[in-house]
Amino acid sequence: MNAEGRGRLDRMPEWTALARHRDKLGEVRLRELFDTDPGRAGRYSLRVGDLHLDYSKHLVTDETLALLRELAAATGVTELRDAMFRGEKINNTEGRAVLHTALRAPHDTVVEVDGENVVPAVHSVLGKMSVFANRVRSGDWTGHTGRRIRTVVNIGIGGSDLGPAMAYEVLRPWTDRELQFRFVSNVDGADLHEALRDLDPAETLFVISSKTFTTIETITNATSARSWLLAGLGGDEAAVARHFVAVSTNAEKVAEFGIDTTNMFEFWDWVGGRYSYDSAIGLSLMIAIGPERFREMLAGFHLMDEHFRSAPPEENAPLLLGLLGIWYGNFHDAQSHAVLPYSHYLSRFTAYLQQLDMESNGKSVDRSGEPVSWQTGPVVWGTPGTNGQHAYYQLLHQGTKVVPADLIGFARPVGELSDDLAAQHDLLMANLFAQGQALAFGKTEDEVRAEGVPEEQVPHRTFHGNHPTTTILASELSPSVLGQLIALYEHKVFVQGAVWNIDSFDQWGVELGKVLAKRIEPALTEGAEVAGLDGSTAALVARYRELRGR
Ligand code: F6P
Repeated sequence: MNAEGRGRLDRMPEWTALARHRDKLGEVRLRELFDTDPGRAGRYSLRVGDLHLDYSKHLVTDETLALLRELAAATGVTELRDAMFRGEKINNTEGRAVLHTALRAPHDTVVEVDGENVVPAVHSVLGKMSVFANRVRSGDWTGHTGRRIRTVVNIGIGGSDLGPAMAYEVLRPWTDRELQFRFVSNVDGADLHEALRDLDPAETLFVISSKTFTTIETITNATSARSWLLAGLGGDEAAVARHFVAVSTNAEKVAEFGIDTTNMFEFWDWVGGRYSYDSAIGLSLMIAIGPERFREMLAGFHLMDEHFRSAPPEENAPLLLGLLGIWYGNFHDAQSHAVLPYSHYLSRFTAYLQQLDMESNGKSVDRSGEPVSWQTGPVVWGTPGTNGQHAYYQLLHQGTKVVPADLIGFARPVGELSDDLAAQHDLLMANLFAQGQALAFGKTEDEVRAEGVPEEQVPHRTFHGNHPTTTILASELSPSVLGQLIALYEHKVFVQGAVWNIDSFDQWGVELGKVLAKRIEPALTEGAEVAGLDGSTAALVARYRELRGR
């Protein structure tokens, strides 16, 4: 038993039963599974809110799914889920509650942390955000010179950037097109330069988003943005109050930076950075789409939260997706997971999921600090599907790797497309369905031969198939559907972390690089001695200085 009262995962009978089942199943063929069970697609699909999930193209049988659910039961996924929703401090290495679900809870919900109901504060901040967003949208909030705001620049990184930047792209059809939005994250000065080069400081609002307000990239960019603003507006420090607002948990640091804390939108340490874009971190998004649409998005999140909390295991979509990931990662040696949206608006969706999944489950010790001897989180990757088809799908179809994939599409196009452009939607979706079909069923040698292909080309033109996919189909993209999708993935990641017995809510792995960068910087600028620098890094630093003429 480890400190969490659980035996080692890979010695649990439910785990070894799955390993035996995997051996027994051998190379199960999707063609056969469908041939012998005509009702498979119907039985292996789920409806949750506006989402239809087809998981029939997975290398699983009823027995596989039952064994996976037994593993979830034995590893206490449900108990940990309930503890999370109750506000218990399940982020054990940081001693924090994990309550992103409270960010979208209706106002009459009670969720207590240290004896205090947190829901009223959530709604109070949402109210404050709404007032501010409406003032910017209507032109009532003006800049220092009295001109209305035309561009909002969000400065943040990681969870303080990826969420609002992704959701802004997804929800573009709902944005106020009179306003421009830019998202700056990289400490590379080129990012801020490109964002600001054609802007008028008198019409620009900066939203400085940082949970800690100590993140070097964000504070550096925010400081440069302030200099740019003051230079453009004659140096009057009073301008900062009209052009800078902050989103943070750290009022002290916000004040230290020079932002009036009345212009600060608060959130709390029980909201993880990568789970935060439905908190005040979504302020720039709310300005873009308006408070009403933002609340629709929150309702979508909440719908999925309630589903995850109450649906039985057989019908529980996040549980199912989490367990399927475990099936491939732990029993088929899959190293990665592709997320392939068939929607231009979801162009940054997978980048967002990379932080959500990889920062959460990229861990190699369990909750009690013991090294794990099983695989944990996968490499998550992918870009919009049709573009991927002409780039890396070759490897998916004929390569040697196991890459389970999610194909995400929508029945109807959104936005103000012309009739011609709207008509392209069927072609887009035909591609999604075709790829799922080709990946699953491939093309046999006999089928290739029957087409008259010369014998020497047959192996090259044969598709082995059997590549597993989940298809997620929604009626159309909307703020609510986005909320449903994100919460689906949040809870999927949760399920996997619970089974693997890791803390999905800390991120110590990002610290070392930060500390070393701080140590190395003076060596680059001033040639300072850095104690303990390895030979390779020392030589690179020296060459860098030479190239810079220092
Ligand atoms: O990458 C580490 C991290 O702490 C993320 O978890 C977080 O989203 C990001 O940095 C930004 O942190 P902050 O919001 O405190 O600036």
